[in-house]
Amino acid sequence: MYNLLKGKRGIIFGALDQNSIAWKVAERAHEEGATFVLTNAPVAMRMGAINELAKKTNSQIIPADATSLEDIENLVSKSVEILGGKLDFVLHSIGMSVNVRKGLPYTKQNYKYTEKGWDVSALSFHKVMNVLYNNDAMSEWGSIVALTYMAAQRVFPDYNDMADNKAYLESIARSFGYFFGVEKKVRVNTISQSPTRTTAGSGVKGFDGFFNYADKMSPLGNATALECADYTISLFSDLTKKVTLQNLFHDGGFSNMGVSQAIIENFEKNE
Ligand SMILES: NC(=O)c1ccc[n+]([C@@H]2O[C@H](COP(=O)([O-])OP(=O)(O)OC[C@H]3O[C@@H](n4cnc5c(N)ncnc54)[C@H](O)[C@@H]3O)[C@@H](O)[C@H]2O)c1
Repeated sequence: MYNLLKGKRGIIFGALDQNSIAWKVAERAHEEGATFVLTNAPVAMRMGAINELAKKTNSQIIPADATSLEDIENLVSKSVEILGGKLDFVLHSIGMSVNVRKGLPYTKQNYKYTEKGWDVSALSFHKVMNVLYNNDAMSEWGSIVALTYMAAQRVFPDYNDMADNKAYLESIARSFGYFFGVEKKVRVNTISQSPTRTTAGSGVKGFDGFFNYADKMSPLGNATALECADYTISLFSDLTKKVTLQNLFHDGGFSNMGVSQAIIENFEKNE
């Protein structure tokens, strides 16, 4: 380990179980010397797995529904108190589509579900930054990261309304990142991660095909949750101080591919 986050304080949203990307980020942040508060929606707490992570990483848990400004206010003020100062990093690792959960296709959305999914997956990022910004809770040269997927730029039909939510999320990173940069010297970025076997990821219809296709298409293969955590740590560290307003692809090269030899061979076999 490199002590990359020695003395840094943060909040990590979204560790549900040990497959969660946020779970790996928490483990890696702990190894790199950070102290942090873990948070998740009160309903997610019922699973109880987060207690194990808290114990392992010596952290406290503060439940917060990321769509509730009141919950986020409470989370941020208590975190600053518990950790003993302003925050150096925040991870937004939250996503949920009710349309996907209920099996409704993109062309037949229930707009109440759409609004809920947008609030949870996209607007929550604005709400979190709103509270951090207006309470002046971030340290200078702090770093805020949210996780996203390439369906924000390209068509992946079964990714459904999450594609639109991710496009919105990435836009918030740029727009809020401007104000955070100018006023507080804080950077804001999104990491666009490969398909990853987690609760949220596996909920997408046809996930296995999706996963294997991306793996065969990417020169380096799919990036794992742990590799995503490593990349996130680099963005929280002082080694990336001038990286901001970016959507950073962490996908083994998938996003710049047209076709790979492995995919071509697969089609030739099936002719
Ligand atoms: N798994 C993938 O294939 C993949 C690929 C690219 C990006 N991502 C993104 O990574 C992030 C983390 O997802 P994951 O794959 O680790 O899955 P995950 O299911 O482990 O994490 C999603 C988290 O969102 C939390 N959440 C849902 N509603 C919430 C609310 N109202 N308030 C607070 N938290 C809430 C859940 O409790 C859960 O902890 C998401 O933004 C997801 O879209 C995932």
